[in-house]
Amino acid sequence: MNPSGGLRWHWKAWRSQGLWEPTCQDIATWLAEKPAQRSELLLIGASAGWMMSSAWLAGFRKVTTYDIDPLAGPLFRWRHGKSLSASGTELLCERGDALNQLGEVLQAHRQALVLFDNVLGQIRFHHPDVDEASHRIASIRRRLRGRHWGSIHDAYSGPVRTPVSRRAHTPMMRSVQPPYPTASARKRDQQDAPQRAAFAAFGSQLDADGAWLDHLTGDLFPPGTQVSHIAWPHLDDYCHWLQAAWVEPQ
Ligand SMILES: C[S@@+](CC[C@H](N)C(=O)[O-])C[C@H]1O[C@@H](n2cnc3c(N)ncnc32)[C@H](O)[C@@H]1O
Repeated sequence: MNPSGGLRWHWKAWRSQGLWEPTCQDIATWLAEKPAQRSELLLIGASAGWMMSSAWLAGFRKVTTYDIDPLAGPLFRWRHGKSLSASGTELLCERGDALNQLGEVLQAHRQALVLFDNVLGQIRFHHPDVDEASHRIASIRRRLRGRHWGSIHDAYSGPVRTPVSRRAHTPMMRSVQPPYPTASARKRDQQDAPQRAAFAAFGSQLDADGAWLDHLTGDLFPPGTQVSHIAWPHLDDYCHWLQAAWVEPQ
């Protein structure tokens, strides 16, 4: 079974379009900040592109999607194919494990802007050993050196006190990715002070209740990256904290 996609994901995404609309608007704001002058997009973990607009995709000359889910390609075409053919955008939907074969996939799309679309925060579900999952995320970051890339992913998720339907949407927050923590700070699970303050503020706006799951993506973006924090009420009583950023070639 695919722990981060497949039929359950499509069903949930289809049914939740109303609930997720404010999050999709935040995502659209962030997507619009993509680096200019990129005509090709490589979309990893695309599924059916439930949370992005056809209009944004139509700005590219060529879009290649990758997903391990056999339903992803057909459903992506169903959702976006018509607009992309109207804009003259070439669409290629590949089924495959683009994370395990990242080197080859990047090589095959050397000019493309790379976007990890809500997939890197799921690595811990595919690799339940926390050390192995963290190691995989760090090795993905290293492989991206020299590339223009972006990611939107779960940073944390957990229960909320007040049902989402009874609260206003938490507005998007911005922060700058702090320096990598020292080994001793990491051992003590410490963040630097500004990051701690920003995180406490966003966490309280999300109305977090109890312990939240850490999706192990905290060190993915290089220090100094502008990060957008987006609230994603997954269910009425359970929220995901998304982080999104575009990264310049390093
Ligand atoms: C949470 S869903 C995100 C869906 C999509 N971005 C959207 O908005 O509809 C994560 C997706 O990543 C896919 N995925 C997981 N591991 C993958 C891998 N190694 N290579 C490619 N896709 C993968 C899953 O099949 C799933 O469709």
